[in-house]
Amino acid sequence: MPDELAIREEYVRQEARKIIDGIKDPAHDWAHTVRVKVDSLTIGETIGADPMETKLIVWGHDIGYGEQLSTHGETRHEDFSAVLYEPILKRAGYGNDLIQRVLYGIRNHTYSICPNPTSPELMAVQDADRIDTIGIIGIFRAAAYSTFLKRELFDQEDPFAIKRERDSEAYALDDILLRSDKIIEKLHTLKGKEIFARRLEFMRDTIEILRLALGPYIHAT
Ligand SMILES: [Fe+2]
Ligand SMILES: [Fe+2]
Repeated sequence: MPDELAIREEYVRQEARKIIDGIKDPAHDWAHTVRVKVDSLTIGETIGADPMETKLIVWGHDIGYGEQLSTHGETRHEDFSAVLYEPILKRAGYGNDLIQRVLYGIRNHTYSICPNPTSPELMAVQDADRIDTIGIIGIFRAAAYSTFLKRELFDQEDPFAIKRERDSEAYALDDILLRSDKIIEKLHTLKGKEIFARRLEFMRDTIEILRLALGPYIHAT
């Protein structure tokens, strides 16, 4: 028979999933949340993060994305995720201390808001979330997110930005290339850096294949 903690977590997981499934954003779908959970537990284990607190942050971290998309970025999803998540955590019966720690984690799960997290749980979640923007999955997600950003996949004339500045707002490929250079500096944990390095190597091979694939079409009209 499942224990009380497992029942509470399952309730929260299902409520978060319902919200994420309703947003229908392929870059922040439930599969992303599950990958972040797996990687944040792997990373968290190496730095003494509490698994339950880590998972609770992960389940709710992106549930406010619908609001960010519908307001074209005026509402930050970190804040709105916390607004939506608080009543779910209360209904699940968690104590106020844990709820406040989890909500703090949700509001601060992005590097742009919290560049120096101090709790191991938040370090693990931030690293796992960032790692999911890299590798073949990162390429898929950047391409999918382009629909919402109304940007092109790449510059037809100069896809690899040889003769121009990279522009992540205009092209998904620029975003991927810029991110792959910068992310390593923003990771907090050794385990996160190790996973990142493996994925980056694979992504570079994939980009080389893309370079070969696009070659014949550059300058073609
Ligand atoms: Fe997020
Ligand atoms: Fe995320």
